Amino acid sequence: MSRIVYVNGQYLPEAEATVSIFDRGFLMADGVYEVTSVLGGKLIDFAGHSVRLARSLNELDMAAPCSDEELLEIHRELVARNEITDGMIYLQVTRGNPGDRDFAYPDPAVTKPTLVMFTQSKPGMADSPVTKTGIKVISIEDIRWGRRDIKTVQLLYPSMGKMMAKKAGADDAWMVEDGAVTEGTSNNAYIVKNGRIITRQLSTDILHGITRAAVLRFAKEAQMMVEERPFTIEEAQAADEAFFTSASAFVMPVVEIDGASIGAGKPGPVAMRLREIYLEESRKTAI
Ligand code: PDD
Repeated sequence: MSRIVYVNGQYLPEAEATVSIFDRGFLMADGVYEVTSVLGGKLIDFAGHSVRLARSLNELDMAAPCSDEELLEIHRELVARNEITDGMIYLQVTRGNPGDRDFAYPDPAVTKPTLVMFTQSKPGMADSPVTKTGIKVISIEDIRWGRRDIKTVQLLYPSMGKMMAKKAGADDAWMVEDGAVTEGTSNNAYIVKNGRIITRQLSTDILHGITRAAVLRFAKEAQMMVEERPFTIEEAQAADEAFFTSASAFVMPVVEIDGASIGAGKPGPVAMRLREIYLEESRKTAI
């Protein structure tokens, strides 16, 4: 079955869906995106993702392509048409196609935003075997721009980071700025020490993860101690546990950082418990 994707009001087989070469997403990385997971055919934290999308658009003076209700409808239609049980919905909004290349923003009354959405099917993604062994990360310098709180499609450095990790025999990279970890290439980073969950506080230095917000809320509800502050790679290597969160990986244990084993060298109890709570609670409120 050919995948059905959405582009500017139309549902099309993926081979027939096109965007102009003058689209500012293509020429200028002038676009924002969201990734929403699907479990059991339902959307996880759709409200969180639509609020963050609105914020990203607002920070860039970009017009919303449609209402939240319409966005929800398109998400659901794509899940249905592609028979997605577990997987992800990728959504991208760009400042559209002004018909030529120009650094200045086009007039939003004339140039409409481009909205593209597609599904990625990942049957059984909540039971991914890597969760049982955990993943290895390396540290790299964070050389990204200063507005990482806006979820833009400028993903070249995160892609380079993943390639550096692969080359080093690891799975991912944690980025470091001024001696402290900012975040992973596509996830938020955490350590656990003496029962305390430590993660960097929100600012323009990191993406305000939707999974992060949910996990910290569940952790506090379960009476776990949460400390929002920067931490170093040395502190992480000496921690009892490490993990990361993202919409596509949920809560993922990290067992090695720059070649040093974390704690017992296997997924820790706090990360595994948080993963369990997150999946259980998110499934309950999925729509
Ligand atoms: N990445 N930090 C960065 C830099 C990210 O790219 C992401 C998400 C996160 C976690 O955010 P959330 O919990 O809202 O997914 C943190 C998505 C999944 C991606 O690019 O595929």
